[in-house]
Amino acid sequence: MAHLSLLTSSSSSLLFSFSLLFFFSLTCNVEARYWQHNNCNPISSIVTEKLYNSLFLHKDDAACPAKGFYNYSSFIQATKCFPQFGNTGDMTTRKREIAAFFAQISHETTGGWATAPDGPYAWGLCFKEEKPKPSCHDVMVGRYHPTAADIAANRTAGFGLVTNIINGGLECGIPDNAQSNDRIGYYKKYAQIFGVDVGSNLDCANQQHY
Ligand SMILES: *[C@@H]1O[C@H](CO)[C@@H](O)[C@H](O)[C@H]1NC(C)=O
Ligand SMILES: *[C@@H]1O[C@H](CO)[C@@H](O)[C@H](O)[C@H]1NC(C)=O
Repeated sequence: MAHLSLLTSSSSSLLFSFSLLFFFSLTCNVEARYWQHNNCNPISSIVTEKLYNSLFLHKDDAACPAKGFYNYSSFIQATKCFPQFGNTGDMTTRKREIAAFFAQISHETTGGWATAPDGPYAWGLCFKEEKPKPSCHDVMVGRYHPTAADIAANRTAGFGLVTNIINGGLECGIPDNAQSNDRIGYYKKYAQIFGVDVGSNLDCANQQHY
């Protein structure tokens, strides 16, 4: 569990760095030097450009909003910012970490569906970000404007929607979920101490998750 959440958070930071590279063309010279001096089998020997393009077969399709965005050289550059990524332990461990990273970022950016051409797992890196969710800040300060689909899914503003944004897949649309109730318990306690009302839609039990 702890390992999985670590992996997920490092996946997110690497994906974030990966994305930043495209915007700012960052270079990570110190890490790059470390890389060159310490690694005889760089990531590029495990993930060749050809393999990369075959894994993310549709990333440059016209239908993908990230078309042209996630190129191989930027991936390699991004990994240099995380010199331990895919570079710790034996070859099996390294490959497993890279596979896990690709799986996590593919899920976050997938354009696939069950019957998609080439199968559901040929569509990683189709979107630039996780499927768009509103920001928790906007929700809490009244700047969230639900779409018609959000309204139909009961995703209206309130603490429950923040829970939905953070972990809705596991906690929302479920009656009396213990984790969601624990968040509500904390929120009620702190709101009471601050002397403020908790507002409406505390619970996400009746909301569809994102
Ligand atoms: C990859 O993307 C980066 C950042 O946008 C860009 O500087 C570079 O030229 C691209 N490389 C290729 C081979 O398209
Ligand atoms: C929205 O909330 C109402 C009232 O709790 C519930 O009956 C309905 O099923 C909810 N809709 C969805 C899409 O979950």
